Amino acid sequence: MPPAVKTKDVDRELERLARSAKSAHDLMSQIVELLHDRMLKYNWVGFYMLETASNGEPPMLVLGAFQGAMTPHTRIPLHQGICGAAASTGKTVVVDDVSKDHRYLACSLETKSEIVVPVYVRGKVVGELDIDSHFPSAFKDEDRELVERCALLVGQHLEKSRK
Ligand code: SME
Repeated sequence: MPPAVKTKDVDRELERLARSAKSAHDLMSQIVELLHDRMLKYNWVGFYMLETASNGEPPMLVLGAFQGAMTPHTRIPLHQGICGAAASTGKTVVVDDVSKDHRYLACSLETKSEIVVPVYVRGKVVGELDIDSHFPSAFKDEDRELVERCALLVGQHLEKSRK
């Protein structure tokens, strides 16, 4: 199946999940499962949520729902990794070759490329969707659009539940 047809197909499923999910947490679990199962180059898919401590500790990205091998990076400060870069700038980061990016925190020796998309609630970053691939340059424009749509739907769901 050509990539554009595949992402459209997954997109339809995504809209269905967003309408039926009982909570943002459910939606995040279903999204990581959908992307990991259906997008064959998405070898690790997970959400990190931003936690701000009340005791003056620096904010941390904390691993939430994920699919793929366990990662050593369950808590990432904002000044570390591709994950920290996406959350602190509020912008999608696509890395075609992780071995050439000094920010990269290794999760698996097999990872070759990565995309991280921030999740926003009312204009503030509250987390992000991180995807690793065993293939170099795995994340093309249509992948970026798909992953950004996932992050948007989660942000909208969180917004409803945090009224
Ligand atoms: N590679 C990420 C760390 C998280 S693992 O990929 C799951 C980073 O550089 O921030």
